[in-house]
Order: sequence, then C-alpha cells, then structure tokens
Amino acid sequence: MRSEAGKLAPMTSIAILGVTGRMGRALLHALAEQHDIRLTGALASPVSASLGQDVGELVGGQKTGIVVTSSVDEALANAEVAIDFTVHGAVRDHVAACVRNKRALVIGTTGLSEEALDLLRLAAADIPVLMSPNMSVGVNLLCRLAKIAAQTLGEEFDAEIVEMHHRHKLDAPSGTALRIGESVAQGRGIALADAGAFDRRGARQRGQIGFASLRGGDVVGEHTLVLAGNGESISLSHRATDRLTFARGALRAAQWLTGQPPGMYAMDDVIIDKSNT
Ligand SMILES: NC(=O)c1ccc[n+]([C@@H]2O[C@H](COP(=O)([O-])OP(=O)(O)OC[C@H]3O[C@@H](n4cnc5c(N)ncnc54)[C@H](OP(=O)(O)O)[C@@H]3O)[C@@H](O)[C@H]2O)c1
Repeated sequence: MRSEAGKLAPMTSIAILGVTGRMGRALLHALAEQHDIRLTGALASPVSASLGQDVGELVGGQKTGIVVTSSVDEALANAEVAIDFTVHGAVRDHVAACVRNKRALVIGTTGLSEEALDLLRLAAADIPVLMSPNMSVGVNLLCRLAKIAAQTLGEEFDAEIVEMHHRHKLDAPSGTALRIGESVAQGRGIALADAGAFDRRGARQRGQIGFASLRGGDVVGEHTLVLAGNGESISLSHRATDRLTFARGALRAAQWLTGQPPGMYAMDDVIIDKSNT
C-alpha cells in the first residue's frame, strides 16, 4: 500500500493469539483486505482441534505456510506485535511471553481478573500494550459521548446500561458495558466500583449505574446507555453487526502500536492520532 506521499507503507508482522476462535477467524478475513500487514504466527489452545493446520484452511482459503501452534513463543517468533482474542485464563501466559520476547501486545480479550490487569500494567513498563474491550470506532465514540452526557445531566438522570451478546459469551457484564459505565462514572466524578449495580435485586438506589446483560443466539454485540430523567430520557446505542468491525480495529491498533514506546494505550489513542488516518 502506498501513502499519499507515494512511499511504501511499512509492513507490520503480527501473531494472532486465539486464531481458531470467532474473533481469530474474523482477523484472518480482515487480513485479506490488508497489504501492509502479514501474519507470521497463530496460536490456539493446547487442546485445539486445529493444531498443525494451515491458517488458510481455517477460513476456507489457500495454504499460507503458517500453521496453528499451541506454543506462544513459536507464535511470537517472527512477529512484531501479538493480537490476543483468547480466554481470560490464558492472558497471563501471553503477557509474560510478550515481555520475554519483547513484542508489542494488543489485548482484546475481556473478563480479565485484577491480577491479570496488574500484570498488564507491569508489562507496559517494558513493551507497548494496547487494551480495549471493544475495538470499534463507534463504541469508543459512544464512550466519549457517555462521559459528556453524564457530566451534563448529573445524577438527576438515572444511568442504566443494557447489553446483549451471543449465547457463548463467557463474561457478564461485557467489557464494553463496563467501559461505558466507567465513562458515566468519570463524567460524574465518581468511581464505578462505588456506584455500579451489577446484579440488582429489588429497588434502584439513587446514583446507581445499573447493568443488565442479555445472552442468546448469535448477537455480535449491542449496547445501550439509557439516561432517564423526569419527563424525558436519552438513549445512546451501538450495534455491531459483524465481527469484522472489531477485527479491522484490532489490525489498525496493531499497526499503530508498533511505532510506540513502552506504555499502556487505549483505542482512543489510535482513533484520535490524526497521523493514523
Ligand atoms: N475487544 C473487542 O473488540 C472484542 C470483540 C469481540 C470479542 N472480544 C473478546 O475476545 C475474546 C475471544 O472471543 P471469541 O468470541 O473469539 O472467543 P472464542 O470463539 O471462544 O475463541 C477463543 C480462542 O482462544 C483460544 N484459546 C482458548 N484457550 C486458550 C489457551 N489456554 N491458550 C491459547 N489459546 C486459547 C481458542 O482455541 P481453541 O478453541 O482452538 O482451543 C480460540 O482460538 C473474549 O474475551 C471476547 O469477550 C473482544
């Protein structure tokens, strides 16, 4: 791909951690649209039915020469950046391997424990880490709007977040719903931990930020923030209809991250970096 100045864009080498999953396959499809990103490694779990298989075959395409491995060091060997869409329990090992191999890390996996989050923060002293529970441009904009709305309306408007995902999703509320909740809390100048109602039974308390999670079918991801006042309410909604939107965002994040010094980054950093558009 050529930039406006006519120069060849640099090639970014990536490893996909979780290549056999829903997001891993979406990344393989999104990669086919990109000429300046190449896949050099692909990881699945030690019990994956796809170990040893060529990744091209995972999406019904031509052989690529990249085979699915369960060794994270092998997957990272020729990559500059790893993109992790796996399971929360595996993230610790992947972070440690990225630090050991000095690879940048884009982390899309959600439902991370406090321990895993601490590890990521530590890792950010050595490598660039970009963590986002939602890689879509739309959701990241929604979070910014949520903060402004909460700041403007205050506690007079009750904040409730409703989300729906496919029946296989492991965590609830979704990482994105929590991000929206954090944005509302930031807008109000409070901590989500003090105001979040994650499992409400009985009456709503004033000032709560409520969460409701629906699970079913093959829904890719829907989030609505309702700010309900007396006589009026505002709803901010986002609907993802195709995982490709997350995959394209993750690839854009990976390209952006390779040029950054060690540190902890978010999708907002990519989106508002004008040099990346
Ligand atoms: N940030 C975002 O924009 C975004 C968007 C969508 C989803 N997500 C999150 O991304 C994660 C993955 O979602 P998904 O729907 O793609 O899940 P999925 O379809 O269940 O795929 C999980 C993948 O992880 C692999 N895996 C499982 N255990 C592993 C281990 N111990 N070591 C290495 N790999 C392992 C699986 O390999 P095998 O099955 O072959 O064994 C599979 O490739 C979830 O946390 C989800 O919430 C984030």
